[in-house]
Amino acid sequence: MMELLQQTALVVKQKRYVEIARRSAETLLGIINRILDLSKIEAGKLELENHEFNLRELVEDLTDMFGEAAIGKGVELACFLPASVPTALVGDAGRLRQILTNLIGNALKFTEQGEVVVSATLIEADAKSAFIQFEVKDTGIGISPSDQGRIFDAFLQADGTTTRRYGGTGLGLSIAKELCEMMGGSISISSEPGVGSIFRFSARFAHQPSGARISENGYRRRDSFRTSAQRSSNQREWLSPERLSRTRGR
Ligand SMILES: Nc1ncnc2c1ncn2[C@@H]1O[C@H](COP(=O)(O)OP(=O)(O)OP(=O)(O)O)[C@@H](O)[C@H]1O
Ligand SMILES: [Mg+2]
Repeated sequence: MMELLQQTALVVKQKRYVEIARRSAETLLGIINRILDLSKIEAGKLELENHEFNLRELVEDLTDMFGEAAIGKGVELACFLPASVPTALVGDAGRLRQILTNLIGNALKFTEQGEVVVSATLIEADAKSAFIQFEVKDTGIGISPSDQGRIFDAFLQADGTTTRRYGGTGLGLSIAKELCEMMGGSISISSEPGVGSIFRFSARFAHQPSGARISENGYRRRDSFRTSAQRSSNQREWLSPERLSRTRGR
């Protein structure tokens, strides 16, 4: 509805108000969905879906989604997906996206300068499935050792001022933990206050049957980097690490 209203003739002040109302509605919907997820988890009623998806497409989408926010904060968002990670997978892409969305969202929320780097590595694979580790690393405020053990609990935030300063409900990580475990993996954190945090989680996905791996052909199988800096210059192509180094003048 708000999107429709935004398409009508509005004066600048009205546009601003509609945008604020749209964001508030989005935030509220996010909170309701997280509370619903938590209730489903507690009732043992949360079930994972199984469908084919392309991991590269999913990661690329997320970089697009968070690119604007990263550029707006002057924080570089980079994603690294090596060619060794299989991308034609079967699993619950929506739930994987939910875990990554919370981790990348947190990383950007708690980082004022530096970078957020998202990467994936293959832990092991057999004919049936691939066990993949994801990492979201930031150069943000970090988390004290005493808080690191508590942040995966529902409704817990590192300190009492977090909600006031950064918003959020303290549900994202507890839901992410449950989802990782349902996907056969786990989640962990290593962090140093004032230096940054690294969240790592693993999950197992089935391979797509070889006949169905056509979607894979559209993507070059090579190591690939993607950064929000590329987005700001309107380059949508993924860069190889060598080309990225040249682009960034390293
Ligand atoms: N990358 C990070 N850097 C610093 N602190 C973090 C980071 N990620 C999480 N935290 C701390 O852990 C708390 C819990 O994170 P979680 O994602 O569960 O909740 P939230 O982001 O506050 O709210 P929600 O995800 O429900 O919107 C955060 O409030 C914050 O205190
Ligand atoms: Mg969160």
